[in-house]
Amino acid sequence: MAKIEICEVELGDARALNAYVRQVYETSDHLITAPGEYGMGTFARWRWCVRKLASSGEVCLIAKDADGAIVGMIDGWVDPRQRVRHVLTFAMSVRADRRRTGVGRKLLAALVDWVKAHPYIRKIELHVHADNAAAQALYTSFGFILEGERKGAVRYEDGRVVNDRLMALWP
Ligand SMILES: CC(C)(COP(=O)(O)OP(=O)(O)OC[C@H]1O[C@@H](n2cnc3c(N)ncnc32)[C@H](O)[C@@H]1OP(=O)(O)O)[C@@H](O)C(=O)NCCC(=O)NCCS
Repeated sequence: MAKIEICEVELGDARALNAYVRQVYETSDHLITAPGEYGMGTFARWRWCVRKLASSGEVCLIAKDADGAIVGMIDGWVDPRQRVRHVLTFAMSVRADRRRTGVGRKLLAALVDWVKAHPYIRKIELHVHADNAAAQALYTSFGFILEGERKGAVRYEDGRVVNDRLMALWP
């Protein structure tokens, strides 16, 4: 696999990250945001990056290829209230033309390392559509287990209704 660097997002990534996210929504069947629903501008994304860098319970790691292009991201956040702030939720994606080349595994490994070094986060949670076999295979290979399922929580444009699965790991 071509060289991939995993690093924390920087303010200067805002514009490229926005273009990346827009492209991911256009090329992924298993996300909640449909193509055309994404409306965040560059300044809003820049402020989002500021928050990610300033908050102890937030993180955004991005994968860059040898040319510096963003080919993946993983975004984690906590509810900062005392009783639940030990639980991080995350979402992740890899650029369509780089899927199944190990980028997702690298990003998730970096997130798990970040959590292990964190002073108060102890649990990692995620939501995944029941028909997203690729993502579930990745999470299961890291030891994530199924904790529950929300019935019929997702309805696609073609009328298909699928469950939303909650998976978790205590690293
Ligand atoms: C899910 C996703 C992030 C995986 O990233 P990736 O870079 O393609 O994954 P990797 O190449 O690192 O693969 C890691 C493991 O995941 C599993 N996997 C990945 N793609 C798979 C596929 N198409 N079918 C079956 N298993 C798959 C395999 O276990 C794989 O290990 P292996 O290649 O040794 O068999 C990527 O497919 C993606 O961005 N999908 C669209 C957005 C999305 O669904 N995000 C997750 C929402 S919960």
